[in-house]
Amino acid sequence: MSTYNTDNTRKVTTRRLVEMKQRGEKISMLTAYDFSSAKILDEAGIDCILVGDSASNVMAGNVTTLPITLDQMIYHGKSVMKAVRRALVIVDLPFGTYQGNSKEALASAVRIMKESHAEAVKIEGGAEIRESIERILTAGIPVMGHLGLTPQSINKFGTYAVRAREEAEAEKLIADAKMLEEIGCFGMVLEKIPAELAARVSREVSIPTIGIGAGGGTDGQVLVMHDMLGINKDFSPRFLRRYANLADVMTEAVGNYIADVKSGDFPNSTEQY
Ligand code: KIV
Repeated sequence: MSTYNTDNTRKVTTRRLVEMKQRGEKISMLTAYDFSSAKILDEAGIDCILVGDSASNVMAGNVTTLPITLDQMIYHGKSVMKAVRRALVIVDLPFGTYQGNSKEALASAVRIMKESHAEAVKIEGGAEIRESIERILTAGIPVMGHLGLTPQSINKFGTYAVRAREEAEAEKLIADAKMLEEIGCFGMVLEKIPAELAARVSREVSIPTIGIGAGGGTDGQVLVMHDMLGINKDFSPRFLRRYANLADVMTEAVGNYIADVKSGDFPNSTEQY
């Protein structure tokens, strides 16, 4: 595990992501929902920051992604945008803001772009929301698709298990991926599907695929920052690699602070005016 020698100055655009796929350069993406974390990720050289609706779980403590609102996503997007100089910032359209009709979908996407200043939106689903995606694209808003496990549909699936193991679902996923490419999406997330299927989709579409729990054959990878940094210790799926154990680091630091306050050691004579 080392620092990748990436181009740390040139702004990442949707066009650049396609060029990266063409060159065979893998795309790195992590979630962020606030200014301070986004600044760290951007300065570390991450290619894309996803202001995911996983903020519903991670930031607000909800069990699913369904409760988060458009206003809350805009708040998170705006905070992230203030910090980021290089990475491409993509904001999730939350549940209930695009499924009704394409006009509503466009209005939601326009609010995200206008109020958060983000550079693209991500939207879950395939053929069933084609019209909504097309309408957003006609307004000049870049769209990233999201296929496979789509957490906003958890109440339909009833489980967070791997999707598209059966042939019929895999065929639909391939058709949806080609449709997203055909109508003009700049990329797509493939979540929790068999590695072989994700690799096949990645070979068969010209736009970048970003995998999470989808193996190494995709054009890039995304993880939820709080999971990969070990801030959230309660979530340990097979696909997750932990790069730090920040919960332990924070617990120890907070314990030391409490002890110093209680003993009167903090603040000392150099830590006062
Ligand atoms: O909301 C999110 O964090 C996501 C990623 C898991 C892809 O959609």
